[in-house]
Amino acid sequence: MDSILVTGNGELNGQIPIAGAKNACLTLMPATLLSEEPLTLTNAPRLSDIKTMTALLQSLGAEVSTLQDGQVIAMSSHDLTSHTADYDIVRKMRASNLVLGPMLARLGQAIVSLPGGCAIGARPMDLHIEGLEALGAEIELKDGYLHAVARGGLKGAVHEMRFASVGATENIVMAATLAKGTTVLKNAAREPEIVDLVDCLRKMGAQIAGEGTSTIEIQGVDRLHGATHQVVTDRIELGTYMLAPAICGGEVELLGGRLSLVGAFVEKLDAAGIDVEETAKGLKVRRRNGRVQAVDVTTEPFPGFPTDLQAQMMALLCTAEGTSVLEEKIFENRFMHAPELTRMGAHIDVQGGTATVTGVERLKGAPVMATDLRASVSLILAGLAAEGETVVSRVYHLDRGYEHVVRKLEGVGAKIERIKS
Ligand code: EPZ
Repeated sequence: MDSILVTGNGELNGQIPIAGAKNACLTLMPATLLSEEPLTLTNAPRLSDIKTMTALLQSLGAEVSTLQDGQVIAMSSHDLTSHTADYDIVRKMRASNLVLGPMLARLGQAIVSLPGGCAIGARPMDLHIEGLEALGAEIELKDGYLHAVARGGLKGAVHEMRFASVGATENIVMAATLAKGTTVLKNAAREPEIVDLVDCLRKMGAQIAGEGTSTIEIQGVDRLHGATHQVVTDRIELGTYMLAPAICGGEVELLGGRLSLVGAFVEKLDAAGIDVEETAKGLKVRRRNGRVQAVDVTTEPFPGFPTDLQAQMMALLCTAEGTSVLEEKIFENRFMHAPELTRMGAHIDVQGGTATVTGVERLKGAPVMATDLRASVSLILAGLAAEGETVVSRVYHLDRGYEHVVRKLEGVGAKIERIKS
């Protein structure tokens, strides 16, 4: 397993290009199952999760090819040969469950393995099941697989989700595009990735309104046609790299970044003493002066502070002046980066879903271990500003969500290299 060696090397200056959003691409790709005509995605990120989704769609009979070094994904689901998403693929990536809604809508049946737990929590699928059952699907759990059928097709319905689940919103919206009649989904998630999915579905002929709000209305149609769609910028990669100049000093411009993607996050950066300026090309970030100030953070569904930036923000606050309280409200176990940061000299007290961070002047490099995707990059950020060398092991977690990390950070002056093993 490869590792990454980071050496604290002072300020960072320059530009970092931000890729297309992993979490948009992972719901846009299954949308190909809704139509017999080709769906092409541009600005796709080059990530291992995308390769996993590609393998899953191909296992269902879809043709998926990547062009331009992976930035273009050309798909066609004209002839599907299976409606089963196997455990060995789904356990690697929970987002595999996003084939459930499209397969039910297109084929009237689907067998999808339950994803099983993952490092950050149990992550059940009850909200997906409730929503699809509201559309008339019959779903039962057998041998770890969800067996879903929609006899006579799906029917539109009014359904309110108990929690604004991102994945459940995506599965229900995709399924409803081909249901008979109108669906009104209440307490829907509002993430930009859902807005991007609806934008693509509309290009395919879907009739949808309200995306980005808590109520999404879908008028079912008989069929969807092909389309070409550009994947939205990755707001989590954006937020992650915004923290690089914040933690190291200097000034970095994040190409493709827009304030609208990171509103709540920028508010917290401002309170911590970080200036963010929107330019024609992206977002320019620099530390206002002196030390970063402590701020309290609570993760919430969009437009609140994103849970996917909590670990990275903690790395920044480890070196802030004062004490910060971070509350993780979305996942039940998303502080595994805390003990690793503690090995670097951070002062973090974790009590259940609350982490209290008392800032120190400077962290010290140490060997640390990545435990999940976003924890891995928070350790890289900490290492950029730490004194001495940090070796982050198990970087396969990193490869799931961050393309060309070493190249992007080297490009702004970081001392970082990948150690093959
Ligand atoms: C999406 O996961 C993202 N993944 C996650 O990003 C992100 O952290 C999460 O949304 C929250 O923003 C993709 O988009 C591929 P949820 P998802 O359904 O859809 C519970 C990353 O780092 N829940 O909004 O799985 C669940 O256990 C990943 O890129 C149920 O209880 O998130 C969690 O506690 C990590 N029942 C909470 O809701 C359900 O049926 C939020 O889950 C579904 C979810």
